[in-house]
Amino acid sequence: MDPEEFLRQVSLFHSLSPEDIERLSSSVRTQSLKKGEVLFHKGSEGTVLYIIKKGRVKILLPSRSGDEVILAIFSETDFFGEMALLDGIPRSADAVAMEDCELFVLDRSDFLTFLMENRNAVKSILASLSMRLRKTDDHLEDTCFLNISGRFAKKLLELVGTSDPEDDGTLFIDLALTQSELASMIGATRESVNKELRLLREKGLITTVGKRIGIVNMERLRRRVH
Ligand code: CMP
Repeated sequence: MDPEEFLRQVSLFHSLSPEDIERLSSSVRTQSLKKGEVLFHKGSEGTVLYIIKKGRVKILLPSRSGDEVILAIFSETDFFGEMALLDGIPRSADAVAMEDCELFVLDRSDFLTFLMENRNAVKSILASLSMRLRKTDDHLEDTCFLNISGRFAKKLLELVGTSDPEDDGTLFIDLALTQSELASMIGATRESVNKELRLLREKGLITTVGKRIGIVNMERLRRRVH
């Protein structure tokens, strides 16, 4: 797929004319990242916007003790790094490659010019910021009001999304996550995630194949979210 065709699929650029897309694609450059590589740290200066061409990037908050909280996982056609460009304050979180990645990179001045010239793109970025804030609110609500079992069940249901079922009806989460990563997503310890996984497997609600988790009984898993 050529860069213009790809950029047209990015929500932020949906409303652009073919000429604008052409201009934009001549402003972006590409960058590769190896799995596990840190793209930037919280507190560093932010001068560019990233759009994911291939792979997944996690956005996380590290703690002094080495734990982390995963705020979001971005994949193909998602963008990130807009906050530092919009408010001029350093990066709000770390960004780390979860897989080998290819990114499009857009400089701050090109990004801001592009926003100034496209009212629909402004609407689109505001909608994205609003959506991300809603998700963060949901996460805060879950952390305050759900126990670990409820949070874990809800996260599994969210991660499985709309994946296609296997012949026996099992729905596999198509992202291989470590127990530590799962724990970072729900504000729990790796040990408690390990315990939950064992419990859910014993009850026949899930199955695991290596790092992959399959949901066997969606209805009973849903009932654990309360
Ligand atoms: P920036 O602050 O420049 O660098 C970190 C990026 O992570 C940030 O821009 C956003 O793109 C993204 N980010 C930060 N916090 C969240 C969040 N709560 N939900 C989704 N994305 C986030």
